[in-house]
Amino acid sequence: MSRRNRFIKACRGQDVDRTPIWLMRQAGRYLQEYRDVRQFHSFLEMCKKPELAVEITLQPVRRFELDAAIIFSDILLPLECMGIGLEFTDGGGPVLRNPLRTARDVERMGELDPEKDLGYVLKALEMTRNELNGTVPLIGFAGAPFTLASYAIEGGGSRNYVETKSMIYAEPASFHRLMEKLTNMVIAYLNAQIRHGAQAVQVFDSWVGCLSANDYKAFVLPHMKKLFASVDPKVPRIHFALGASHMLKLVGSAGADVNSVDWRTPLDEAWKQAGLKKAIQGNLDPALLFGPKEHLVEAARDILKRAANRNGHIFNLGHGIYPGTPVDNVALLIEAVHSGSKRR
Ligand code: CP3
Repeated sequence: MSRRNRFIKACRGQDVDRTPIWLMRQAGRYLQEYRDVRQFHSFLEMCKKPELAVEITLQPVRRFELDAAIIFSDILLPLECMGIGLEFTDGGGPVLRNPLRTARDVERMGELDPEKDLGYVLKALEMTRNELNGTVPLIGFAGAPFTLASYAIEGGGSRNYVETKSMIYAEPASFHRLMEKLTNMVIAYLNAQIRHGAQAVQVFDSWVGCLSANDYKAFVLPHMKKLFASVDPKVPRIHFALGASHMLKLVGSAGADVNSVDWRTPLDEAWKQAGLKKAIQGNLDPALLFGPKEHLVEAARDILKRAANRNGHIFNLGHGIYPGTPVDNVALLIEAVHSGSKRR
C-alpha cells in the first residue's frame, strides 16, 4: 500500500499500512512556488484558469509525501455566481459587495448551475486527475451552508456574526430559506465535482462554532442532514466544523463518513463524541508548525497515541495551514506521522 490508496481506505475505516496525512490549505502562500505564481496573477484568476489551479494543486503533492491532493479553489466562488459579488482585497479578506439582509434579498439570490457557472473548477478537477494519474486521490470541496450564509449576510468575514444572528432571531423563516437554497446549491456542486473526478469531498463549516448547540440543532443540523443524505455516497464525505467542541455529538449526527475536528478537544475524546463508527480527521493545532520542532513532533505523537492505530484516522491540522509556516516543519510533521504510525 502507498500514497495511492491509504487515504480513501482510512476514510472507509479499512486497514492501512500507515496513518494517511494531508493538510487543509496545503496549497498556499507558505510555499515559495505558490508565491512565484501568485506574483503574476490575482487569487481569483488562479482559481478560474484551470491550468493555474492544476499547477497550484500539484505543488504540495510534489514537494511532500502527502496522501491526498485537494483541488485549488475557494468556498466563496459559488456566491459570486449567485449574484452576491466577490472580491479579494489586497492583503485583506474577501468582500461580498451585495450582502443579503432581508427576505427579498434571499428570494432574489440566484441559483447555481455548476456545469455552466463553475465549469472551470470541474475542468480543473478533470485535468488534475489526469496529471495525478493515480499517485494520490483528489479531494473536492465546498463551504457549508452556514459558513456561506455568514459571508453572504455579513458581506465578508466577521468577529461576532451580529448580522447573521440578527437574521436567525428576527427572521428565522428567511434564514431557513437561505440555508435551504445554499444547501441545494452545495449538493448540486459537490455531486458535479464527484462526476468530474473528485474521489472524496469535504464540507468546510469554518464559522459554525459561533453558534450555541441549541441554535446549531435548530438552524443548521437539519440542513446538514439533508446535505449528507444527498451527496453521492460512492465517495467519502468529510465534515469539518471549526470550534465545535461544545456540540461534537450533534455535528457527528449530520451523517458524514468522516468527521474533521480542530485541536480544542483531544482526539480520542472527540472521536468518541463524534461517533466511533465514523472515521475521524484532525487534530493538530496549525500554530504548532511554527515550532519548536520537538514540541511539534511530541504533539503529533500524542495524537497518534490517542488514535492508537485504530482504523479510520486521517491525520490533519485542526484548521488550514497559516501563511509563514516553515516548510521544513511541514516535511517533518509528515515524516513523523508516517514513521510513527507504521502498522507493518
Ligand atoms: O486546501 C487547499 O489547499 C485548497 C485551497 C483552499 C483555499 N481556500 C485557497 C485560498 C481551500 C480549501 C479554501 C477554503 C476556504 N476559503 C475556507 C474554509 C477553510 C478555512 O480556512 O476555514 C474559507 C473560510 C475561505 C474563504 C477565504 N478565502 C478567506 C477568508 C480568504 C482570505 C484569508 C486568507 O487566507 O488570505 C481566502 C483566500 C484564499 N483561499 C487564499 C488561498 C490560498 C489566499 C489567497 C492569496 O494568495 O492571497
